[in-house]
Amino acid sequence: MGYADSLDLAHHGDAEVAPGLVDLAVNVRRDPMPPWLSEPIAASLRSLAAYPDQGPARAAVAARHGRPVDEVLLTAGAAQGFVLLAQALRGARRAVVVHPQFTEPEAALRNAGHDVTRVILPEATGFALDPALVPDDADLVFIGNPTNPTSVLHPAATVAALARPGRVLVVDEAFADTTGETESLAARRDVPGLVVVRSLTKTWGLAGLRIGYLLGDRSVLGRLSTVQPLWAVSTPALAAAIACADAVAVAAEREIAAGLASDRAHLVTALRDLPGVVVAGAPASSFVLVRLAGGSGVRLALRERGYAVRRGDTFPGLGADWLRIAVRDTATTDAFVTTLAPLVMCPPPHPKEKLEA
Ligand SMILES: Cc1ncc(COP(=O)(O)O)c(C=O)c1O
Repeated sequence: MGYADSLDLAHHGDAEVAPGLVDLAVNVRRDPMPPWLSEPIAASLRSLAAYPDQGPARAAVAARHGRPVDEVLLTAGAAQGFVLLAQALRGARRAVVVHPQFTEPEAALRNAGHDVTRVILPEATGFALDPALVPDDADLVFIGNPTNPTSVLHPAATVAALARPGRVLVVDEAFADTTGETESLAARRDVPGLVVVRSLTKTWGLAGLRIGYLLGDRSVLGRLSTVQPLWAVSTPALAAAIACADAVAVAAEREIAAGLASDRAHLVTALRDLPGVVVAGAPASSFVLVRLAGGSGVRLALRERGYAVRRGDTFPGLGADWLRIAVRDTATTDAFVTTLAPLVMCPPPHPKEKLEA
């Protein structure tokens, strides 16, 4: 399929947010930064005259994940990792993206000239990964775990079963910390061709700072580093990477994940109680995917009532009836569900019909 035929892969939740709307569209945590993170970032501003030195941050990230330093590549957010992979691995014969998932990997592949084969996991199986669906000749495979937007967490063994000699297997673990890391492959050194993508922008509210990293096969990472711009990661971002690799940060991530699990259960129960709302799979991350008749009209009606949720129709494998909702505190969820309930009982007209009316 050509790029022109594709959905709007460049659409992201931030485009749905506007002043005055409660943001349930973007999966970035908004809590104040803890001092162990804000202080080193602030202190780093005193050294901005020097070019960034990645050494200490690489060592800290390597230690956190139990890997040698040459199995870590720091990036300006996970998003830069996708571009490096797509650009450096232009020689791949068959790139496969397992959908529904975050659209940037496919966008980066297409921008680099790859023909992309989509493997669509069906709703009927709860969007569960079936490794047999991935063609044998795929030599570059992208999958998310847990997956945005389905919130499905695949078993680590099922994801690892996609690996084979001659294939680069890219596992986007941008939200792994939200699940307590139970199915993470970040420390696995025995999986051939594995590249794990990590982001520090979600839980730590650093989307504007741009910090993430890749872990895995040193020969693949070596190829990626040759296409990475010089000094791609700024000194404040490196300070954040060091702070977030510390045991204090890891303990805080576990605590946040536990709180999130209870807030998510509250949201899921409330959504399941609404007639006609289907919650996809078994949500495991900081967002929940739902299907409801007239979803796109409901989304617009929610905007008129003060809530931004993420449209589902730009994700391959989903459609206009799908919406992604961020997990927030229970008070926000209760107010949101109270607003959603009458819209579900009596769905507003489809936006097109409304325009024509
Ligand atoms: C699944 C997934 N991976 C990666 C990213 C990109 O993260 P970063 O801000 O680190 O570039 C996002 C951002 O929304 C995401 O949802």
